[in-house]
Amino acid sequence: MIDLRSDTVTRPTEGVRRAMAAADVGDDVYREDPEVEALQEEVADQFGRDAALFVPTGVMGTLVLLRALVPPGTEVVCESDAHLVAYEAGAGALNAGVQFRTIDGERGRLDVDLVRPRLRPPTFPYTSVGAISVEETTNRGGGAIHGLDRLRALRALADERGVPLHGDGARLFNAIVATGVDPRVYGEVFTGFSFCLSKGLGAPIGSMVVGDADVIASAREWRRRFGGAMRQVGVLAAAGRYVLAHHVERLAEDQANARAIAERVADAVPGSCDPAEVETNIVYVDTGATPASAVLDRLREHDVLAGAMGEHLVRLVTHLDVDTEGCTRAADVIARALTDG
Ligand SMILES: Cc1ncc(COP(=O)(O)O)c(C=O)c1O
Repeated sequence: MIDLRSDTVTRPTEGVRRAMAAADVGDDVYREDPEVEALQEEVADQFGRDAALFVPTGVMGTLVLLRALVPPGTEVVCESDAHLVAYEAGAGALNAGVQFRTIDGERGRLDVDLVRPRLRPPTFPYTSVGAISVEETTNRGGGAIHGLDRLRALRALADERGVPLHGDGARLFNAIVATGVDPRVYGEVFTGFSFCLSKGLGAPIGSMVVGDADVIASAREWRRRFGGAMRQVGVLAAAGRYVLAHHVERLAEDQANARAIAERVADAVPGSCDPAEVETNIVYVDTGATPASAVLDRLREHDVLAGAMGEHLVRLVTHLDVDTEGCTRAADVIARALTDG
């Protein structure tokens, strides 16, 4: 099966499994797991920040960071389709005690000119701004990249208001590989951020939270409160270390495959897809008069899975478990489904 529903579906490669099997472990609640300690140090160093924390999921990464950075009862300004609003079952409100001030951006991106007028005045009785939060890359925005200029302008605005710039960097490495920007440069623009070792990097489990020492110490405490402090978890940290060493540069292949799918579909069915919008590993196809569900059925008949993001919108996400041939096949089936009706 060629599964292009999401890059979350990747399975551990032989190399990842070997690294996991060989992991030297200890009790991470006592901070005695050598793989976890090494992973955290390597990540902090890679981004030029004080500290990093291993957490089980991307959602928990966002939550512990919101708890560490943002006072409850304040407002997190973010894009309307942000993962933390769309897909986290109200966790931000329930578990971090924040409310969201959502802004319609462009392809999931915020811009300083959109955000500035939506920040409420810093006076009682207005609800206080607690943080500005951005995704890099955007999920529902189709893998769009904010890029450093936008992020720096947002950070300057956040600094002006004395609030943090929070980064949900689930796919931050896709942006790093696409732009060629040094992780240290990306790392300094956010007050605190998280990224996923799973998704395109291909670890089975795990996310990292990165920031200043006091913020990460607080996030560690929140991880404990949320039940996410684990014991001999070096088996998972070893997978994380392996994918950071071996699977980062190869994200360029996924991104080339995504672009190639878009070009092939756009050539066959002009207007259905814009290759220029494919900045990373996510492709959106407008299915026109054909319902997305019919296109998905046709794909399934050819052993290809994709996702529907609307009644007439199909999404394909490339990753390390699908090669160029599989992506070409998916593109051809979509093109035929759209032209045959
Ligand atoms: C932008 C973004 N943030 C957070 C997450 C949450 O990650 P997880 O499902 O591992 O908790 C995802 C997952 O797809 C995501 O796309």
